[in-house]
Amino acid sequence: MASILGDVSPIISSKPESYFVSAKTSPERSLSLTTKSKSPEMRSLPTHSEEGVLDICYEVFGRRQGLPDHLMTLISSCIPPEEQAFIFNKKLPYFDTSHPLPALVNLSYRSVLSMYLAKGCRNDPTLSAVAKIAQRIYESLPRSIADTSNYGQAFSMNPEILARAMQLAKNQVVVEIAGASGENAILLACTEAQHVYLNDIEPVEIATFQTLKGRLPVEIQRKLTVIEGDCLELVEIKPELVNKVGLILCQNLIHFFNNKQQEKIFHLIKKMLRPCGRAIFTANSIYVDESFRKVFEEHPKSTSFTSIMCGIVDYEISTLPKQIILQDLVVGDEEAVSTNFQKLHLYERNSKTSHKWQVNNDQLLKITSENSLRSRIAAAINQHKSSFKNIKHGTVWVLINALRGYSVTNLRDLAIRHGFDVETTFAVTAKGHTINDKDDLFNRAAKVGIIVRNL
Ligand SMILES: C[S@@+](CC[C@H](N)C(=O)[O-])C[C@H]1O[C@@H](n2cnc3c(N)ncnc32)[C@H](O)[C@@H]1O
Repeated sequence: MASILGDVSPIISSKPESYFVSAKTSPERSLSLTTKSKSPEMRSLPTHSEEGVLDICYEVFGRRQGLPDHLMTLISSCIPPEEQAFIFNKKLPYFDTSHPLPALVNLSYRSVLSMYLAKGCRNDPTLSAVAKIAQRIYESLPRSIADTSNYGQAFSMNPEILARAMQLAKNQVVVEIAGASGENAILLACTEAQHVYLNDIEPVEIATFQTLKGRLPVEIQRKLTVIEGDCLELVEIKPELVNKVGLILCQNLIHFFNNKQQEKIFHLIKKMLRPCGRAIFTANSIYVDESFRKVFEEHPKSTSFTSIMCGIVDYEISTLPKQIILQDLVVGDEEAVSTNFQKLHLYERNSKTSHKWQVNNDQLLKITSENSLRSRIAAAINQHKSSFKNIKHGTVWVLINALRGYSVTNLRDLAIRHGFDVETTFAVTAKGHTINDKDDLFNRAAKVGIIVRNL
């Protein structure tokens, strides 16, 4: 840690009025904050630090994250507005990017969040309401999309990508495609965006969005419009958006689409974007599990797979699987890719089975996609026998799903094939944060993504 000149007392305190920090980590880099009340009396931060203020925080406080909110507020209040947007930026060395992406943006900090919001949204109670929306999806666990659908799960926000989107949204018409309950769309509406449209096909998700929207100040509500329905018909539903949109967010949808549907979605996104407008896509990655490495190495250009997952559920604990006992991926047919998946309950234990594990033969017989699968499931169950012991009310299900998985390169190539200029490629962890080093992506990158530009 660099030497600290001057007083640092106390460095970390929950009382904002007690900060007095004056640190010089090198002749060019200094950090001095003094406050006895809520507003800082003395402000001095380097204005052209390439490393970013968070790096200085690290040198001074020994950490970048977990600093008290009051201190973060104080730090951000010392930075000129034109520099706030990139305050936490650091170039990502690994992926192609013509614009630096922020290395870590903790949008669960109100002070950090507020830097990305329109001025009118930075004061309480609006900021509190917006922070609640951000907290719903910041590092959140995946949750199922409304019960009746086959559309998988909604995921945590990608804070660093969303932060970039919040900057790109300035003065733009924004559309979020397949945005589920629309937290990202709401956060984008709280920026300097001109107007934000949320699209999704699932009525229950849209209903949740309307409830969330209803809790916001009317000025934000006025900036948000729902387009309920099939995104492949967006241009027919809203022809006025053609050539008008500056930013489109389309997260975790295109891997459900076969070639024809992908062609259609890319075509209509191109049609809606104004010249130089941008679109951000994320999709399932090929890297989710170490066991997929071999398939990927053998078929580096494949993007269509049949994924097989077998889980044990203990209903007394949760409806989510207690343990995944088999996860496999085989190269599949592009035309079979769809939102439909097969979920089969192979074994059950409940009052109807006299509290004994019982095989469900009807369901077992439906496993026809792969001959060896039944024996692999049997082997996995055998191997995990001990996991069944204490379950009184449970099930063993298998999920067979024809979908796509992308490497960073394959996703980039897909967008290029559809006539986009790829500005940035990225990969994110299950918690949504960008992976910013050259480490092996296997087991780390849950999703891959791109930021593209309309040529
Ligand atoms: C895997 S979820 C992703 C949700 C959200 N974008 C996220 O990343 O958390 C897929 C979403 O796409 C929606 N969806 C599926 N097909 C659609 C279509 N044809 N048009 C619009 N939305 C669709 C589903 O209702 C669901 O909300």
